[in-house]
Amino acid sequence: MKDKFLVRGLSGKKKLKGSIAVGGAKNAALKLLATTILFKGPVVLNNLPDIEDVRRMTEILSDLGASVERLGKHSYRINTDTLNKNEVDQNMGRRMRASIVLTGPLLARFGEVTLPHPGGDVIGSRPIDLFLSGFKSMGASVEWRGERYRIHTPKKKKLRGASIFSALQTVTVTETLLMAGVLAEGKSVLKNAAMEPEIKELADFLSAGGAKISGAGTPTISVEGGGLLKAEKAWSVMPDRIEAGSFLILGALAAENLEITDCLPEHLESVLNLLRLSGVPMKIKKNSIFISGNDSRVGSFQAINVKTHEYPGFPTDLQAPMVVFLTQAKGESLVFETIFEGRLAYTADLVSMGADIKMWDPHRVMVKGPTPLRGRELEGPDIRAGLAFLIAALVAKGESVLNSVYHIDRGYESIEKRLALLGAKVERVR
Ligand code: EPZ
Repeated sequence: MKDKFLVRGLSGKKKLKGSIAVGGAKNAALKLLATTILFKGPVVLNNLPDIEDVRRMTEILSDLGASVERLGKHSYRINTDTLNKNEVDQNMGRRMRASIVLTGPLLARFGEVTLPHPGGDVIGSRPIDLFLSGFKSMGASVEWRGERYRIHTPKKKKLRGASIFSALQTVTVTETLLMAGVLAEGKSVLKNAAMEPEIKELADFLSAGGAKISGAGTPTISVEGGGLLKAEKAWSVMPDRIEAGSFLILGALAAENLEITDCLPEHLESVLNLLRLSGVPMKIKKNSIFISGNDSRVGSFQAINVKTHEYPGFPTDLQAPMVVFLTQAKGESLVFETIFEGRLAYTADLVSMGADIKMWDPHRVMVKGPTPLRGRELEGPDIRAGLAFLIAALVAKGESVLNSVYHIDRGYESIEKRLALLGAKVERVR
């Protein structure tokens, strides 16, 4: 369905107020769902965000033959003992990049997996060469036949543990090879591994099931191969640091005071550091962030340069919301998107709202502020730019129409209802 959001702008006034709770992390939840393939017997996962991508991943697991029981709005029981397929559905695989992580557990468990080239957000070419070279190091071979990859070991034997240096610190490659290593013969060592908190969460979950992993959260992760895992107790997914950062930026721009609860500020150091330097008044507690006494004058924040970087650097998933913030900061800010080559195209739409943003090259833009924004009709190209447009529409003067909010619903649960509780005028039109 092509839902739209009708948004009434606050004309730069900081009118929102109240408290908003952060949901479970999308980019942890999707991987935990995929790892149920490495378990024998039922696995209960709690605090999963009720978003489109979680629904898609549970649909893929059902399609593969797993039993998927919804225990509550944020809770599922998954049992993959009944898995009877190792082919990722063509359409399902194309709709979501995260489907690629299924290759690790499926290949490790069955010795063969077939899949389409994964789709998802159009933020760059998004190759999968590092996945394929990692699987080859573990003894698998790869064919490309009729729009699908077929990855298999000789006679569907087990993968063998390997020492793999990844050319790039990439999140889903690290996660996928870690999962594959859990069932491989012998030890695997992942070098130049990504260090995002979601990877530590994945490793902790696997270890709770009996996996022998060390080094998660550092550039070198070791895993001893063994048998299928067993979930002793339910697991509650960690809070979503990207959702927390998005609310923080919205609060800085449009709230006189805002409390963000159920979050982990320790996962947001790079974001908190920049916003503090820019002049955002924040009180940080263990599981909450409080913006109060926000200066209502436009341009009360200072311009600041931003460079996205693998964790613990500034997260690329908060680059778009941060650019919206910088359109309201005083001075010139250089934004350098180092991870994806196609993740700044959305800035043209912000310019059409009145922002002063000059693109230097596909990786860099110069933002000059403060500039008043005018509401207009917008179409978010991906999850994070979609949320950034929602923030821009709330800052702008006048009405905005956001089309294809499916992108936003992929990453943010009932966002219009949650923002309405803060006083935002966002109406969903089916
Ligand atoms: C994960 O994507 C996240 N998605 C992304 O969040 C996030 O932006 C990204 O990590 C970086 O933090 C999920 O976890 C589902 P990458 P991922 O593999 O793993 C190159 C969101 O909005 N690369 O770290 O796909 C690639 O081209 C999404 O929630 C290869 O060259 O990102 C890119 O330049 C958007 N070859 C870089 O690595 C490969 O085989 C980072 O990609 C794989 C990746």
